[in-house]
Amino acid sequence: HASAHIALLPGDGIGPEVTAAAVACLEAVAEIHGFQLRFSEHAIGGVAIDACGTALPETTRAACIASDAVLLGAVGGPKWSDPRAPVRPEQGLLALRAAMGVYANLRPVQVHPRAAQFSPLRLEKLRNVDLLFVRELTGGIYFGAKTRDAAGASDLCSYSVAEIERVLRRGFALARQRRRKLTSVDKANVMETSRLWRETAQRLAAEYPDVQVEHQLVDSMAMLLLTRPADFDVIVSENLFGDILTDEAAAIAGSLGLLPSASLGDGPRGLYEPIHGSAPDIAGRGIANPAGAIASAALLLRHSLGMQVAAGALESALWLALDEGVLTPDLGGHHGTAALTDAVIGHLWSQSAVDTAVVA
Ligand code: NAD
Ligand code: IPM
Ligand code: MN
Repeated sequence: HASAHIALLPGDGIGPEVTAAAVACLEAVAEIHGFQLRFSEHAIGGVAIDACGTALPETTRAACIASDAVLLGAVGGPKWSDPRAPVRPEQGLLALRAAMGVYANLRPVQVHPRAAQFSPLRLEKLRNVDLLFVRELTGGIYFGAKTRDAAGASDLCSYSVAEIERVLRRGFALARQRRRKLTSVDKANVMETSRLWRETAQRLAAEYPDVQVEHQLVDSMAMLLLTRPADFDVIVSENLFGDILTDEAAAIAGSLGLLPSASLGDGPRGLYEPIHGSAPDIAGRGIANPAGAIASAALLLRHSLGMQVAAGALESALWLALDEGVLTPDLGGHHGTAALTDAVIGHLWSQSAVDTAVVA
């Protein structure tokens, strides 16, 4: 990459605060590791509705499609949440995921020791927790036909074999790079789409004999995440189940503000966003935890730009900044978004000084 183009979509609420933090980190990484990044900023969500009446303006969609990667903050908020509203910020995000074809949403979960005290789980349960959720992102009930009349409403859930197969294959491939365990989550005792899901997972399992596969019903999985979270490795699920289970996993990790995500399709281009929302309750106060957004930027470096070393450097700088106790209020600290961001950048530079010293 001579100069990678990153489409920046700050969005609503704390979105602009956490994306600014992630961009500052990316700029430092680029300077230290000697590569060029070009950012272009675009509207999505509530701010886009206010500006032009639609949650995903055509200019934004086109810029994302033309980019090497998209970095997004969050969309939504009370201003646009009326159940009767004709357009919703969240529609913009869903339309973008569909337009980019990013069907596999990777949501890694590790527990930083400083955050562990904010987990509802006891410390002993948290030891060795290292999860990778692979959530199907462009199908299922999120995208099925929706109807509403005076008598009621309906949301259709449908999946094609191809949609199930491609996301499961991504899960298997990732499991091979990790601890070779894959848990497929479904509700096969009730839902037809889940029976197809399980059948497909069983068929594919034969092609990956080196990966240990198990099937869990989603209700039971919600419990197992709390009773023995360290036993799981890669967890693959359909769209809605993955949405719910990953907020549960974020609580296990200590704060929703910590978790990153990478949404990938078949090519290198991806959409990167923290898993949290626009947090209207703390927006505009400079106290949002930027860790999820910064970690998402690291995933962007790894998955879309092929910058493995730079990605690892950013992840360890973030880990070190949390280590030294630069914590935002969601983790019991008194530091703001900017202070944690500065600490991460400080660690990036001192790491690079150490690397240079070692080479010399
Ligand atoms: P939320 O994730 O915005 O907030 C839930 C709680 O977690 C709040 O108390 C919030 O203050 C806290 N929190 C979230 N992120 C944090 C951070 N980085 N640092 C510190 N605390 C943080 O969920 P919600 O309140 O249910 O939703 C608010 C809006 O966000 C809704 O409109 C929803 O649709 C939207 N949303 C958007 C995304 C997205 O853009 N990807 C994801 C989830 C929710
Ligand atoms: C997420 C969010 C979104 C989702 C909403 C805002 C559409 O909750 O990214 O987890 O449900 O996918
Ligand atoms: Mn969610």
